[in-house]
Amino acid sequence: MPVVYLNGEFLPADEAKISVFDRGFLFGDGVYEVIPVYDRQSFRLASHLSRLQNSLDGIRMQNPFSEVEWTALIEQIIAKNEMNDQAVYLQVTRGVAPRDHLFPENVPPTVFMMSNPLKPVAVDFKEQGISAITVEDIRWQYCDIKAISLLPNTMMRQQAHEQGAQEAIMLRDGLMTEGSASNSYAIFDNVIYTAIKDKRVLPGITREVVFDLAVQAGIAIKEQELALERLYQADEIWISSSTRELLPVTRLDGKLVGTGQPGPVWKKLDNAYQQLKRKTNNE
Ligand code: PDD
Repeated sequence: MPVVYLNGEFLPADEAKISVFDRGFLFGDGVYEVIPVYDRQSFRLASHLSRLQNSLDGIRMQNPFSEVEWTALIEQIIAKNEMNDQAVYLQVTRGVAPRDHLFPENVPPTVFMMSNPLKPVAVDFKEQGISAITVEDIRWQYCDIKAISLLPNTMMRQQAHEQGAQEAIMLRDGLMTEGSASNSYAIFDNVIYTAIKDKRVLPGITREVVFDLAVQAGIAIKEQELALERLYQADEIWISSSTRELLPVTRLDGKLVGTGQPGPVWKKLDNAYQQLKRKTNNE
């Protein structure tokens, strides 16, 4: 039985219970993080904790813990679970209170953490690439906040699945924003293009790593608005996230992307990512 953390205690997952009045449950009123762990070492933890702070600020909640306290809790949950590679999920909600849209006063937040096995990315996906569909970005206007209210994202992902695709890439006002649970990129003439880091997208931590690795590899990377017609002309398209790493998209809306094979720029950066993730102290 996996061990989870709930409000000050580590306990078996089946013993962890929350109130039906939790605002996370009633309103989706909370934020979360997903932190990859390789060989029992969290990857880019400081960046995840800094984004958590931004998300909490964005929904006007106090951070229940300091960075040092979060780090200690995360180290403990890693130690209490079996796998070497894990995905630590943490969630902070505005706590338990009678249902009322107004924020409750003096109510402690609900803090929950679990760790799931971080499964290696499917070999087929890396060798052949994945399929993606494009969908309208129907989310709210604060997509830089990692909010637990993910109904639009789950609906898009389901739609992709039902159409035989592994990800939905969103367009807002006709311009690419990101994937339902990933950032997205298009490559033209060896230059990587991705959406501008503003409120329309989540500032992905893997995206940050992609920027670092591109600079190190001498590959230009630019934030730019991209329309659908341009996406169809891309040499390569990829997605990135903490759990799916860097994945090539070789079919978009049923059309081949570039040659229809994972491209050379993706291969180069994925190799660099694979090397980096196994190094310790890589902040
Ligand atoms: N999601 N954009 C969205 C909408 C996301 O949900 C995610 C990650 C990303 C990539 O961010 P990062 O590189 O920090 O993982 C971008 C996580 C993995 C999830 O919801 O499970």
